[in-house]
Amino acid sequence: MTDEKLHIPVLPQEVLDWLQPKTGGRYVDGTLGLGGHTELILRHSDPDGQVFGFEWDHQAAQLAQARLTKFGNRFQLISASYAQIEAKCPEQSLNGILLDLGVSSLQFDSPERGFSFMADAPLDMRMNRKLPTSAADLINSLSQEDLADIFYNYGEERQARRIARFIEEARLIQPITSTRQLAEIVWQAIPRKYQPKKIHPATKVFQALRIAVNRELDNLAKVLVDAPHFLASGARFCIITFHSLEDRMVKQAFLSNPDLRVLTKKPILPSEIEVQENPRSRSAKLRVAEKI
Ligand SMILES: C[S@@+](CC[C@H](N)C(=O)[O-])C[C@H]1O[C@@H](n2cnc3c(N)ncnc32)[C@H](O)[C@@H]1O
Repeated sequence: MTDEKLHIPVLPQEVLDWLQPKTGGRYVDGTLGLGGHTELILRHSDPDGQVFGFEWDHQAAQLAQARLTKFGNRFQLISASYAQIEAKCPEQSLNGILLDLGVSSLQFDSPERGFSFMADAPLDMRMNRKLPTSAADLINSLSQEDLADIFYNYGEERQARRIARFIEEARLIQPITSTRQLAEIVWQAIPRKYQPKKIHPATKVFQALRIAVNRELDNLAKVLVDAPHFLASGARFCIITFHSLEDRMVKQAFLSNPDLRVLTKKPILPSEIEVQENPRSRSAKLRVAEKI
């Protein structure tokens, strides 16, 4: 598989339509991933538009950099969290900022990263391996109450308390260190009649843990406040989210920021064709605001 195929960028045409990259423009891609959106922005800001790409996953950053070398110094990698935009962004008065939140297919499909219960692997889930706490650390050290709060608040999991109790009982016997082990405990904890039909019963717990391990909502809250300061008047802030917690935060932050005007009253969704071709796009929502 070529690097380009390791992650298919979602809403590609919609991102171009709303971000409106132009010649000479300077953009931040806060979630570079495999560089799919960045490549589109660079192509549409020919011959001298620039992108500063933030990526905190070393493996993704290396692959993206190799893919984007053909653009020379028009692309600059920033190996840091987008939450550090204030300290790390090399330019003020940008012409646009893009965030495409969540995990990449490369991360999700690499069993050893521990994001998926489809294969047995160490329970890790850190997008950036320098983060101090893995999913296994949280599962084995947090109190039953704190675990239940994580599953409920970040996964909207209704069986959160029961699942946390089953985890507590299981870890008294032996530490929970693998994805399969955790998926099995969650499966046992949820009574059959409450098990979801369309998704694996452990889906919400895995999402919640990933959000907690990577402090995803804290990072998003910070960039929502800091990033608008880096936009020139008329420049656009485009954010793609994949679950309702993030979408709600983006919607509220856009509405309550007096420096921003909301351009998308309703979020932009992928077309049916896109969802068919790239099923992982199905929960994507794009919201856009413009700097006043
Ligand atoms: C959905 S993927 C982006 C894919 C990208 N748009 C593309 O077309 O290839 C999300 C990426 O954002 C990265 N990421 C998530 N949170 C981040 C953060 N706080 N700082 C920097 N990168 C982050 C992840 O490591 C992942 O590679």
